[in-house]
Amino acid sequence: MIICSCAVISDRDIEIAVSEIMSASPGLLPTPGVVFRHLNKKMNCCRCAPVAVATIYAAMDRLAQSTRVCPFALAEARAKLIRIEERRERRERRLNDAYANRKPSSMRAA
Ligand code: FES
Repeated sequence: MIICSCAVISDRDIEIAVSEIMSASPGLLPTPGVVFRHLNKKMNCCRCAPVAVATIYAAMDRLAQSTRVCPFALAEARAKLIRIEERRERRERRLNDAYANRKPSSMRAA
């Protein structure tokens, strides 16, 4: 299944990339950016990011079951990815709140 239509990346490409990244350097986080760079591709519109993250999590789950990669390294990487995602969501919520609380320009002039 194609995950990123801009860079033409499939779920299988992502799974292989995550496996290679986690096997080569357990300290490296398989974020979508790292996975895309590993595949020598660039994100364009970023609409695929949520699906790419879900695919990366699924690939990490499969790796954990196959025991090809140290489970501690996988757990650590997953915890870091979750913290990154939580920070991103908080930032997005803060920006949405700031945007919602903004007064229209006609009210500011009065
Ligand atoms: S769909 Fe992946 S960058 Fe556009």
